Amino acid sequence: MADESTPEPTPASGSPSRRSLIGWGGAGLALGAAVAGGGVAVATRGGDGPRTVNAAETGAAVAFHGAHQAGVATPVQDRLHFAAFDVKTTDRAVLVQLLKDWTRAAERMTAGLEVGEGTDGKIAEAPPDDTGEALGLPPSRLTVTIGFGPSLFERAEFGLTDARPEALVELPKFPGDNLDAARSGGDLCIQACADDPQVAVHAIRNLARIGFGKVSIRWSQLGFGKTSSTTPEAHTPRNMMGFKDGTRNIAGTDTAGLADHVWVSAEDGPAWLAGGSYLVARRIRMHIETWDRASLREQEDIMGRTKVEGAPIGRQKEHDEPHLKSLRPDSHVRLAHPDSNNGARMLRRGYSFTDGTDGLGRLDAGLFFIAYQKDVRDAFIPVQRRLARHDALMEYLQHVGSAVFVVPPGVTGRDDWWGRSLFESTKEA
Ligand code: HEM
Repeated sequence: MADESTPEPTPASGSPSRRSLIGWGGAGLALGAAVAGGGVAVATRGGDGPRTVNAAETGAAVAFHGAHQAGVATPVQDRLHFAAFDVKTTDRAVLVQLLKDWTRAAERMTAGLEVGEGTDGKIAEAPPDDTGEALGLPPSRLTVTIGFGPSLFERAEFGLTDARPEALVELPKFPGDNLDAARSGGDLCIQACADDPQVAVHAIRNLARIGFGKVSIRWSQLGFGKTSSTTPEAHTPRNMMGFKDGTRNIAGTDTAGLADHVWVSAEDGPAWLAGGSYLVARRIRMHIETWDRASLREQEDIMGRTKVEGAPIGRQKEHDEPHLKSLRPDSHVRLAHPDSNNGARMLRRGYSFTDGTDGLGRLDAGLFFIAYQKDVRDAFIPVQRRLARHDALMEYLQHVGSAVFVVPPGVTGRDDWWGRSLFESTKEA
């Protein structure tokens, strides 16, 4: 792995591309005629009105280095490739070297550069360092975020047991769960988000390639439409039920909200995790064929919001404050609201998925729910417990995959690597 030559990613402007910017390819640009740096007005359907997309933003690079990992508070990109890995090696030094190699590769891909020596590796007899399918594509706001699962801390050979955070608990079984073990858990996870699916897939594929023989992919998930916004001033995206999702979320610019509800501080502990977070991922299958036969009134009452505007029931505008008592007691928004959950909040960053059909003539579609929080015991667990028991939406859903990970702090520079604070605070068993 060559890392000496890794340049600092240049955020927002002058987007470098993989080797040379051959053209503005990729799905991010299907939005309109792209002119670097210019705004593109895009017509939208129905009541949502036209919106302006900044063409440069769809291709720019997101800074990789920082106190927190990118991909949490970062404005949500359009596409996701999420992968959970099982660690195959039993050698702590091999795992540490892999984390270092992964960090350098993620740093380069985020900047729009090829991995290592690139696709043209100069040695014809050896496989190239980079698989090549992202050549010519801009950075596409790629972020690559790593998490460590509870099972990693239980592997005695890695000597991490005493460093396992108290808050890294396994999620309990919730009423209605129908979890598939093959789509759940994992020792490690990588979340790759980008405005171009090819860039996100390239990132996961190349990390898996680097990890060959040391880790193996346990499960992975593609997401095609963000279902949450962390940018309140932007247009709120819609989920597969056709409702705006992410209206009330923690914004990436809400420093106080992030400090209170998302980032683990030095006082929260453990010390190695300061600046980190916890990630819950749930594959939630939607019975969309049944949903599509429910009346508009029923859909809106269940959600607690109107379908087109996204306003709380009884109010006019999307961002009007909901009056909880006037919503149906079993409505999603009323039950998920912080006032119904001792103030619990989380940063939701999920994506829609459609993975073919289920063999019974129905789409295998739904929401790949991702939420970041300071402590799952005060956020996802109590909120999901309430939803699983009382939410009318549950009639149309089934949770089929589940995982929880602790997300280490950000990589601060080129001598730092993913998980350094954890491994340096522990010793080989
Ligand atoms: C497929 C499943 C789900 C769908 C379709 C869905 C849909 C929605 C929609 C349309 C909203 C209103 C817009 C907004 O404020 O963002 C919303 C809000 C919310 N949802 Fe969900 N959701 C799902 C699952 C979950 C799960 C599993 C959780 C957490 C355990 C959750 C937590 C929340 C929270 C915290 C809010 C904001 C409540 C507020 O502050 O008003 N949702 N969801």
